[in-house]
Amino acid sequence: MKKEMSYYKEGLENRREIAYGGEKDVARQHSKGRLTARERVELLFDPDTFNEIDSLVLPRYETYLGGKESRYGDGVITGFGQINGRYAMVASQDAAVMGGSLGEMHANKIVKAMRMALQYGCPFIALNDSGGARIQEGVDSLGGYARIFDANCEASGVIPQISAIMGPCAGGAVYSPALTDFVFMTENSYMFITGPEVVRAVMQENVSFEDLGGGLMHSQESGVCHFLAADDRECLQRVRALLSYLPANNQEDPPYVRPVDDPLRRCPELEHIVPTDPHKPYDVRQVINSVVDDGRFFEVHQLWAENMVVGFARLNGFVVGIVANQPMVLAGVIDIKASIKATHFIRTCDAYNIPIITLQDVPGFLPGRDQEYSGIIRNGARMIYAYSEATVPKLMVILRKSYGGAYCVMSSKGLRGDLLYAWPNAEIAVMGAEGAVNILFRRDVQAAADPDARRQELVQDYETRFNNPYVAAARGLIDDVIQPRDTRLALVRALDLTLSKRESHVPKKHGISPM
Ligand code: HXC
Repeated sequence: MKKEMSYYKEGLENRREIAYGGEKDVARQHSKGRLTARERVELLFDPDTFNEIDSLVLPRYETYLGGKESRYGDGVITGFGQINGRYAMVASQDAAVMGGSLGEMHANKIVKAMRMALQYGCPFIALNDSGGARIQEGVDSLGGYARIFDANCEASGVIPQISAIMGPCAGGAVYSPALTDFVFMTENSYMFITGPEVVRAVMQENVSFEDLGGGLMHSQESGVCHFLAADDRECLQRVRALLSYLPANNQEDPPYVRPVDDPLRRCPELEHIVPTDPHKPYDVRQVINSVVDDGRFFEVHQLWAENMVVGFARLNGFVVGIVANQPMVLAGVIDIKASIKATHFIRTCDAYNIPIITLQDVPGFLPGRDQEYSGIIRNGARMIYAYSEATVPKLMVILRKSYGGAYCVMSSKGLRGDLLYAWPNAEIAVMGAEGAVNILFRRDVQAAADPDARRQELVQDYETRFNNPYVAAARGLIDDVIQPRDTRLALVRALDLTLSKRESHVPKKHGISPM
């Protein structure tokens, strides 16, 4: 009897072969300096731990018509595997299948993987390489995006969600990454929402997709991207590294690592790193590296709003989130971008039970028309909201300046900061001495026989009386004044005490965070 060879009667192995694609697809992807969807999955997970699901899914129209154009899997590989020995779910879009575009079944596969991750309490990672909504599937495709966005929102704050953009990420494809906790981009990937307009600009203005929406642009300008990687391999390696700081879900603590670094280690170098002259800049990352375990700091959003530094580290083996002003950039002032950056990080730490350590050296908010017009008021308010709402341990060290509104909004006692320290040279006041004297003693200075000498005298007096940490210490608004060298020790002990912190909110549906 003649063997039945119809497409749908072929065996499992044949179907798998079709799902895996051919050498031409692999070569095409490699020629663009990118790995294939399957190679990425293999690199993301610990060796031999990946299990694919839904590899036999077909596009909806294919199921009925029996054509041969499509591949099993419908352009996205989904499944589960282990990363550093812990389970995670993945969706890796396959650019070889209709440009990785998102059809109905493609979307259903992603949503299923996301909902499984939510149900089983493990991180979800999306590896994006897609031309956006599959044009020929019309509204079925758009509906698919909406279901993905909905799943993103529901999973937010419950399981870590990470997106890595490793090729095009066009049209509707951009909003799922934007709803996730962390976005990685490779240097030759790009993201844009307004497809036809961008394509027109690329054709007419002789610019590239990377210029208009590349990894560097989204890292430095828009802030959409938290981590920029040179290529696919580096990107996947850093996704793995990031996960080593995050719990599998919001009911677990982040992974503890038995420390090698001495918790009682003194840090005498801090006295040289931070200049006593309040006008001299320094790199606050040196302070962080000195204090945390093994000098290891995993910085987030490194290229955006550089006047605020945020990232993960370990202190005596426990994961902590660091929020620090950066005196090396704009003197460490708080502006709109810095507020947004800190807010996102604080909320992420709070969601995943990661204590927050704030290092303050801040002259205040960035003054000026541009900031006022663009809404520094509502954006600064976001940071207040985030600090106030956070119930994880909130520790703080004032390294040097702590002026005005910046004092209030960054982990202060009023916002229920737990243990707050200041170094002896710290200046905690409403404003700097010069500004204060100009406002308070203008007439006094004008009337003096020698106005300059009188101003100097008043500035000196103000600095002695107010520009120190002892007024705040006298009110209990900081808990102690410590020597810089004892910073690590003080933080290790404060963390040890506060790790058992339990705090809950007044019952409500949800607050209305400023936006
Ligand atoms: C169907 C698509 C597709 C799409 C690409 N392809 N995008 N098929 N729907 N959205 C197909 C191409 O026809 C091609 O098929 C293959 O994928 C590879 O595409 P190329 O164009 O050859 O690749 P490349 O030169 O690398 O260019 C990538 C690209 C370009 C810049 C992303 O494909 C592009 O401009 N695509 C459309 C992007 C877009 O406008 N998306 C928005 C859709 S609207 P063959 O058979 O030739 O290999 C949207 C709105 C949703 O998403 C809003 C929800 C909020």
